[in-house]
Amino acid sequence: MSDYTLSLDPTKRSSDTIDFQSALRAKIVGQEEAVQALVDLYQVFRAGLNSPGRPVGNLLFLGPTGSGKTRIVEAGAEILFGDARAVIKVDCAEFQHSHEIAKLIGSPPGYLGHRETHPLITQETLAACHTDKLKLSFLLFDEIEKASDALWQLLLGMLDKATLTLGDNRKVDLSKTVIFLTSNLGGGEISELMEGGMGFVQPKDKPVAGLDEKVERTAVEAARRKFSPEFMNRLDKVVVFHPLRKEQLQEVLDIELGQVQQRVLDTAKGQFLFRVTPSGRDFLLQEGTDQRYGARHLKRAIERHVVYPLANLLATDQVNLGDLVCIDWDKTNNRLTFVREGEGALVEPAARKAGAAAAGAEATDGKSASAPEETVAEEKKSRAAQPGGGPSAAPQSRKKQDRSNS
Ligand SMILES: Nc1ncnc2c1ncn2[C@@H]1O[C@H](COP(=O)(O)OP(=O)(O)OP(=O)(O)O)[C@@H](O)[C@H]1O
Ligand SMILES: [Mg+2]
Repeated sequence: MSDYTLSLDPTKRSSDTIDFQSALRAKIVGQEEAVQALVDLYQVFRAGLNSPGRPVGNLLFLGPTGSGKTRIVEAGAEILFGDARAVIKVDCAEFQHSHEIAKLIGSPPGYLGHRETHPLITQETLAACHTDKLKLSFLLFDEIEKASDALWQLLLGMLDKATLTLGDNRKVDLSKTVIFLTSNLGGGEISELMEGGMGFVQPKDKPVAGLDEKVERTAVEAARRKFSPEFMNRLDKVVVFHPLRKEQLQEVLDIELGQVQQRVLDTAKGQFLFRVTPSGRDFLLQEGTDQRYGARHLKRAIERHVVYPLANLLATDQVNLGDLVCIDWDKTNNRLTFVREGEGALVEPAARKAGAAAAGAEATDGKSASAPEETVAEEKKSRAAQPGGGPSAAPQSRKKQDRSNS
């Protein structure tokens, strides 16, 4: 008998799981517990150790509006399947009446309109998310507190047995599916907590002491009151999302501006760079976020104040290939101004575009989506910094700079 023993490290992750984790962290600000929950499930699935006859995972996400509950599922899909839309999303508010269940599972043969109702959840729609490497699907039930009793019954079956019986009796196997459920139950109480309650208004960027624990307790208690024990017992994990703090909202802004920059670089017409000054960023944060709604309206503010004007500039040929546009805040008129600062920021746009497209198409590596713009930003820093031209970094690279200044 050999006395050879080797101490093992059960905390070590595989390299693709580590990649998944860092890609998710690059897209999601904070919410570490949720990131870990997703990464754990992914590792179990990759190792083939998920329990047969059950979904890969049943996760309930609670917490205030605009804190990333839906976004993290989409970000996971973006990274693993190459498309944020590779998630079957069931908006429970649309299925409040039992007869609406037909939209979800199709109606039984013989019913009027049987052929016209295409069930939302089928084996084929689940398989549509699969990649060559990964046969996994994401199913998301949003706002489950609004689900009808009929939907609850279906849901309990899916969570427990990983099967769903369609109207025409076909069975859908959910054993290679992660089921996400979201709810902002307790949202009212949470925003009350965030404002200090009892009419005492808390300064915007100074949350109450111990807020995180209180939010957690409030959300879980609200869920326990509303949902039956048989439902709660079928969940693998309940994760409470926390309200985003001001610095975190700033990070979300950076990520979103990075996505806009990527969209600009992906246009056939005019690949140019833009940068937003710190006061321009503050303006966007003011317009798009607050403690009550988290980052919910940030995208809309960016569309209105950045994307629409940039689209006009592009369509009227005021900016061209390789330009650098500076976006600043005009205090007098309380709006953003757009100034062309430089040209020739992109030397080989065609080649770069091809590179960006290739990187974007590569699923399973979430970093790929942001890689090109970072590259461009870095490139630009070294090439286009003109004497006396002021700062010239694109959004992603400004992030660190801004923070070190603050
Ligand atoms: N933690 C976060 N990290 C990155 N982006 C975030 C985060 N939280 C919110 N966002 C941004 O805000 C938008 C809204 O967030 P999301 O849709 O995830 O809210 P939610 O928590 O699902 O809210 P609701 O309960 O109202 O559905 C997202 O599309 C994303 O752009
Ligand atoms: Mg949501």
